[in-house]
Amino acid sequence: MKIDGSVALVTGANRGLGRAFARELVGRGAAKVYGAARDPAAVSEPGVLPVALDITDPDQVTQAARQCPDVSLLVNNAGVLKYSTFINAPDLDAARAEMETNYFGTLRMCRAFAPVLAANGGGAIVNMLSVTSFYTNPLDASYGASKAAEWSLTNGVRLELHHQGTLVVAVHASFIDTDMAALTDAPKISPESVARQVFDAVEAGQVEVLADERSRFVKASLSRDHELIYPPIEEFWDAAVKGSG
Ligand SMILES: NC(=O)c1ccc[n+]([C@@H]2O[C@H](COP(=O)([O-])OP(=O)(O)OC[C@H]3O[C@@H](n4cnc5c(N)ncnc54)[C@H](OP(=O)(O)O)[C@@H]3O)[C@@H](O)[C@H]2O)c1
Repeated sequence: MKIDGSVALVTGANRGLGRAFARELVGRGAAKVYGAARDPAAVSEPGVLPVALDITDPDQVTQAARQCPDVSLLVNNAGVLKYSTFINAPDLDAARAEMETNYFGTLRMCRAFAPVLAANGGGAIVNMLSVTSFYTNPLDASYGASKAAEWSLTNGVRLELHHQGTLVVAVHASFIDTDMAALTDAPKISPESVARQVFDAVEAGQVEVLADERSRFVKASLSRDHELIYPPIEEFWDAAVKGSG
């Protein structure tokens, strides 16, 4: 589909990658860009129309779909990362919060907007996933589980909406230079680069974006993950646990 003339809605458009998505859409000539955020007053990007939306609130999601009946491109960007392990986390709160936002929130948005997209010719859904959809790292274990669930939902939604001509794009990246990755000094890709790659893919009708070298390596290594992906993480984690003891 063409971005020029499309009507887009971006969740979490107030900062980070969501703001970069909204800016890129405006720059590519989208007819309208709804910038959804828990605090709509924080949506400051020129040319973007603020919409109040917490994706974990079913009533707000229903209301957003009513309020924005012209959407042809849904960008499910909103997400949370709690840096929580499976075993040593004090309780399940972080794991539940990540699943509630990243998986159930995105699922709720896809369900609410599927009829809107159908009414507008099919359009497209972009789901912002992660390289951790493909493997687990103890540093952000429960986040990875939520992103793996979101990857599965993305593949399923693509199948369920194929008949109505909706393109469903899965986007995987390692670290992106936003607040979410502020704790690490690891190499980061810019949010602007991710936004450009994503809308190039939408225009080309591609179902997957592997936005950086790490994502391309991990996806290509999945059939040999216990040789190529996990041993260096085990080594790192064992050293960290021994160091902290
Ligand atoms: N940064 C990375 O390294 C990285 C890598 C791979 C994938 N991702 C994914 O990229 C997406 C964007 O992340 P980011 O890097 O821009 O992170 P960020 O800077 O932490 O921004 C997260 C955005 O999501 C919004 N959000 C969180 N919970 C929400 C909810 N319940 N309803 C509506 N909005 C909500 C936040 O709104 P508030 O301002 O109200 O909190 C904020 O706008 C996420 O899905 C993330 O998992 C990020």
